[in-house]
Amino acid sequence: MKLVHVILLLLCFYSSVCKFTSTSDTPQEDLLDRKCLTEKYTHLSCNKVFCQPWQKCVDRTCTCKLPYQCPKNGTTVCSTNGKSYPTYCQQKSFECLRPQAKFLNNGTCTAEGQFSVSLKYGKTDSEGIVEVKLVDQDKKVFICKNTWSMTQANVACLDLGFQQGALDTEGSFLTSEDITTNDTECLNVHCRGLETSLAECTFTKAMTNGYQELASVVCYTQNADSPTNGLFQCVNGKYIPEKRACNGINDCGDQSDELCCKGCQGESFLCKSGVCIPQQYKCNGEVDCITKDDEIGCEAAGHLRTQAIAFVPQEKMEILTADMDAERKRIKSFLPKLSCGVKDNTHVRRKRVVGGKSAHLKEFPWQIAIKDDDKITCGGIYIGGCWILTAAHCVRVSKIHRYQIWIALLNWFKPNSELKIQSVNRIIIHENYSGTTYQNDIALIEVKKRPNQRECVLPHSIPACVPWSPYLFQPGDTCIVSGWGREKDNEKVYSLKWGEVKLIGNCSKFYGKRYYEKEMQCAGTKDGSIDACKGDSGGPLVCTDVNNVTYVWGIVSWGENCGKPEFPGVYTRVATYFDWISNHVGRSLISQYNV
Ligand code: ARG
Repeated sequence: MKLVHVILLLLCFYSSVCKFTSTSDTPQEDLLDRKCLTEKYTHLSCNKVFCQPWQKCVDRTCTCKLPYQCPKNGTTVCSTNGKSYPTYCQQKSFECLRPQAKFLNNGTCTAEGQFSVSLKYGKTDSEGIVEVKLVDQDKKVFICKNTWSMTQANVACLDLGFQQGALDTEGSFLTSEDITTNDTECLNVHCRGLETSLAECTFTKAMTNGYQELASVVCYTQNADSPTNGLFQCVNGKYIPEKRACNGINDCGDQSDELCCKGCQGESFLCKSGVCIPQQYKCNGEVDCITKDDEIGCEAAGHLRTQAIAFVPQEKMEILTADMDAERKRIKSFLPKLSCGVKDNTHVRRKRVVGGKSAHLKEFPWQIAIKDDDKITCGGIYIGGCWILTAAHCVRVSKIHRYQIWIALLNWFKPNSELKIQSVNRIIIHENYSGTTYQNDIALIEVKKRPNQRECVLPHSIPACVPWSPYLFQPGDTCIVSGWGREKDNEKVYSLKWGEVKLIGNCSKFYGKRYYEKEMQCAGTKDGSIDACKGDSGGPLVCTDVNNVTYVWGIVSWGENCGKPEFPGVYTRVATYFDWISNHVGRSLISQYNV
C-alpha cells in the first residue's frame, strides 16, 4: 500500500474519533424519548414525518398513492421493468406498489442500459469495496470515500437486497493490496437516504487527480449483532450503536433512530416534533419538520439559504446522473394545498372566557355558536365544507331541529350585521362518548346547505386546520380559548371573549384517574386567571404554528370549577381524532399534506 493511503486512512480514523469524543459527552439516555420509542415510528409514520409525494397519509401511515394520484407535471423516467413513466412520482408510486420495479434513469428507457452495484474484495458477499455501473456507461467504477456515509451505504445495501441496509461504512478489507493505482478512479455519490436504489442518487465525477480513497461497506445481515448494552434496536430489527441515535443521520435505514429525540448531537437540528434532521436541511427551502421550525428565522444572520439540499454541484464536478432529489422537491410543489387556519388580515387583538378580552370578528373566523331555543349553549369550530366540530356533551341527535348555528356572531345581545343563521342537517356524536367520564367528548355538526348554494361555505368564516399529528404542539405552548361562556362569578357574557392559555403536560397530577392523556389536553395559566367556563363548551382551543397557521388543538370539554389554578381546563385532544373526523367529513377536506 502506498504511504499516502496510510496517511489518509489514519487522518480519517483520527478525525472520526475526534468527532466521537466531542459528542459522546451527552449521555444517550437524555437524548432518547423512551415512551415515544414504544410507538415504533419509522419514515412511514406521518405523525412524525411528511410522506413522500408518491405517498398519502392514511391512518397515520404513509401508504402508496396510485400512479394517477400523482401531479401530472414532471419529466419521463425509466424503470428497471423496462417501462417509461411520464413522471418520477408515477414510477415511484408504481414501485411503492410493486417493489421489484425500481428507478433506472431519468429520461426514456433505452435498449442497452442497466445499472448495477457490486461489492469487491470482501471476505463475504455482504461486504466489499463498492463498484457501480451507470446506465449509460459500460465500465464499472468505484465510489470515492470522501462523500460516502451511512446514508449512501444504506441505499447501496438495500439495492443489493439487504433489507436492513448497512452495518458499517467501512471494513477491514479496505487495506487490500489488490487495488491497483489505476483502479482508483472513482465517482462521488449523494443520496437523501430513503432511495430504494443507488441509481436514484446523484453521481458526480470529481475532477481531481491524485489518490482517492474508495468507499466500502459492510451490509447488515441478521446475525451481524446480538442485542447487548449500548445498542439501539431499530424498528426494522437492525441494531446500531446507541451513540449513533439522534444525530440526524438515518443509520437505521427506516429513520427510527431519529424520530424520538429530546435533543440532537453532532451536525443535526432538533424539530419541535422530536425529530433530528441533518443540519444542512435547516433553512434549505424545504420544510422537513412537521412543525416547520427548520425553515424559520432563515433570513436572520448566520443562516444562508442554500438551495438544493441534497446536493449543490461544485464547479470542478461533472454531473453524471440527474438530480432526482431536486425532481422530488419539484413534484412536491405541484401537490394540492389545503387552505385553512390563515386569517384574512391580522388584526391587532384587543380584548373573556374567564378573565379574557373581547374579540373582533376577523380574529376568530372559525368560531361559531350553537343556539338551543333562546340561549347560546355552546361554541363550535368551523373546519371546512359544511362541517363544524363541537363537544359531544353539547348536542343531542334528538334535538337536531331545535339547534341553530350562528355564524360570524360577536355579541348575541346586540347581533352584528354579519351574523348568519343556519340550521343543522346532521349530528354525528362519537360512538364512544361517555357522559360520565367525558371521554371522546367530540361531535360533528353538518349544517344545511342554503338552497342556492352549490358547495357549502360558511359566510365570513375561515376553517381552522385539523391537526393530524399529536406532535404539532407541546406542553408549554401558548394557545387561545374563546367563547361566550360565563365569567368566574357566573356572570353572564354577551360578547365573544378570548384568552391565552398554556398547554399543560401530565395533567393527572391535577385530576388523577379522571384524566385520559391520549384523549384529553389540559390548558390554563399559572394563577388560573384565564379559563373556559360554563357555556364555552364545544368551542375552540386554537394554537398557531411558526408560520401563523391556526389549528384547532382542543375542544372545550370540562373542568372542576372555572379559573382555579389547581384545576386547569380540560379539552378534547383533537389530533387524536383526526382519523375519526376525516372518516366522516372526507380526507380531502381536512388533509393539509400527504393527500
Ligand atoms: N362543561 C362546560 C360547558 O358545558 C365547560 C367547562 C369548562 N370548564 C373549565 N373550567 N374550563 O360549557
